[in-house]
Amino acid sequence: MNDLLLRACRREPVERPPVWMMRQAGRYLPEYRAIRERADFLTMVRTPELAVEVTLQPVDLVGVDAAIIFSDILVVPQAMGMRLSVDEGVGPRFHQPLRSRQDFERLRDVSPEEGLGYVLEALRLARRELDGRVPLIGFAGAPWTLLSYMIEGAGSKSFSYAKRLLVESPSTAHAMLGRLARLVGDFLAAQVGAGAQVLQLFDSWSGALAPSDFREFALPYMSEAVRVARKAGAPVIAFCPGSGWALEEIARSTGADVIGVDWQTDAAEARRRLPADQVTLQGNLDPCWLYAPPALLRERTQQMLQAFEGRSHIANLGHGILPDTPVAHARAFVDAVCEWRRS
Ligand code: CP3
Repeated sequence: MNDLLLRACRREPVERPPVWMMRQAGRYLPEYRAIRERADFLTMVRTPELAVEVTLQPVDLVGVDAAIIFSDILVVPQAMGMRLSVDEGVGPRFHQPLRSRQDFERLRDVSPEEGLGYVLEALRLARRELDGRVPLIGFAGAPWTLLSYMIEGAGSKSFSYAKRLLVESPSTAHAMLGRLARLVGDFLAAQVGAGAQVLQLFDSWSGALAPSDFREFALPYMSEAVRVARKAGAPVIAFCPGSGWALEEIARSTGADVIGVDWQTDAAEARRRLPADQVTLQGNLDPCWLYAPPALLRERTQQMLQAFEGRSHIANLGHGILPDTPVAHARAFVDAVCEWRRS
């Protein structure tokens, strides 16, 4: 049984760092694209058998030390009643983005079993199929990232609608974020009940916020969701890409077991800034380096491992794997970690 990830989360001794890749179940795998030809993305997410099949693909094909359940952060707003589509080449889109507090108040409070039962079912099935081979990760989007998506309706460069709300009507923003924090925390706890052994919270748009706004509108709600989730007993990874300046505050405020380090942050600096006895670090190779020829990729990967040396560390990319990554290179990244020995 491979429990490297669980031991690294608890800062117990490991022979080598565990390795997995954000977005490891995705379009760079021909076996993923084959299923995707038969079913659209949201059908795959909502059909536990298909979700589990793609969840296991990177474990079988690339040799990673963890499975992450195939789903999306946007299933939470969808369960609250927002109409979502994920179109080829366009990405995810909400048809009626929120434009007022009333829009938000009309949304349902979801109980995880009722509104997101298909994610929980996929977790139960994945745990059974994995049969202890590697640990299973559950995840959710953090409140600020979900709210900004719900307001913008899609990805955005400036986040002007979402940020305008923070400026013009902070009390409305706080009310919305508080409600999302409870839902996300409950959903994460339910995922542990269904078999998730580690949880990751993605605050993917935290980097859109200035420091004072990050402290007011993102961090407290991420922290509340982590607090609720941690009661379920599984370690939590907090990842705020684009907010590397705040690593100490993220660790202190969330109390997360693991802090994700994005590729923009210097690994050795992250190691120095965070106390070794309190948090494990996860990251942080720039996914672009997976384009490099395998020999060079291996060198870069081992430099990254060296930079985290002496710490509990989970080897990963500094953001999601890119869809045009050669599979052989994804494997070379994983192999480079597996072969690495602390000198
Ligand atoms: O990591 C994994 O393998 C698990 C699955 C997973 C997906 N999305 C599958 C997915 C996870 C953990 C996510 C999280 C997610 N989704 C985030 C946070 C992570 C991050 O990147 O910061 C965000 C912001 C989203 C929202 C989202 N969903 C976007 C922006 C997109 C479009 C991506 C693109 O490149 O087109 C999606 C769709 C999506 N989610 C795909 C996958 C595999 C592609 C769908 C397809 O097959 O066309």
